[in-house]
Amino acid sequence: MSAFKISPSILSADCARLGEEVRAVDEAGADYIHIDVMDGHFVPNLTFGAPVVRDIRPVTNKPLDVHLMINPAAPYLHEFANAGADLITVHAEADTHLHRSLQVIRGLGKKAGVSLNPSTSETVIENVLDSVDLILVMSVNPGFGGQRFIVSQLEKIRRIRDMIGNLPIELEVDGGVNAENVASVIDAGANVIVAGSAIFKGDDYHETIGALREAINN
Ligand code: DX5
Ligand code: ZN
Repeated sequence: MSAFKISPSILSADCARLGEEVRAVDEAGADYIHIDVMDGHFVPNLTFGAPVVRDIRPVTNKPLDVHLMINPAAPYLHEFANAGADLITVHAEADTHLHRSLQVIRGLGKKAGVSLNPSTSETVIENVLDSVDLILVMSVNPGFGGQRFIVSQLEKIRRIRDMIGNLPIELEVDGGVNAENVASVIDAGANVIVAGSAIFKGDDYHETIGALREAINN
């Protein structure tokens, strides 16, 4: 198995056939399933709640990578954990008490992630590195699939890779990643790639996920 992981974002899936879509990306080689939870307040869009996570849970054995773009997130962490999330990522810009949220997620037996919007400096996570399992760098402003990758985030990814050093923390990048730019994202230090439109735009997910892996390995 590759050292790099691909986490297809079901935001770009056909939600009328969500179970089939999850099964299809699972069979096509997804490492994680990325679920974008939006509240119409922290981001200008609404998507899935914990019941959707619960319904997806029996469809795949792949880890469910739940990205909470909600504010507050703290009151809902138990709900997403109980629904079957494996990895729960909160935004550093959302709830005031980031450290507490990360502790709660770990206390629920889940992996704890923290995400940074494009305008947020990595310095805000310096003091929680011992409490995170994953750092998620947004390379678009969160809210929608199909946006263009913000190139300035590559330098931030490099700085975070340096911050991580030997710590057991995954570095995930989300937004506008495709077969053309994925190599630069990996080169900057990411090891988990979220891709929505780049995967779901085609009919053959073996092919679209394969194209990403090929671009990573070349
Ligand atoms: C954006 C979401 C992303 C989105 C990525 O707010 O967090 O996960 O689905 O979609 P693409 O890959 O199309 O930019
Ligand atoms: Zn996401």
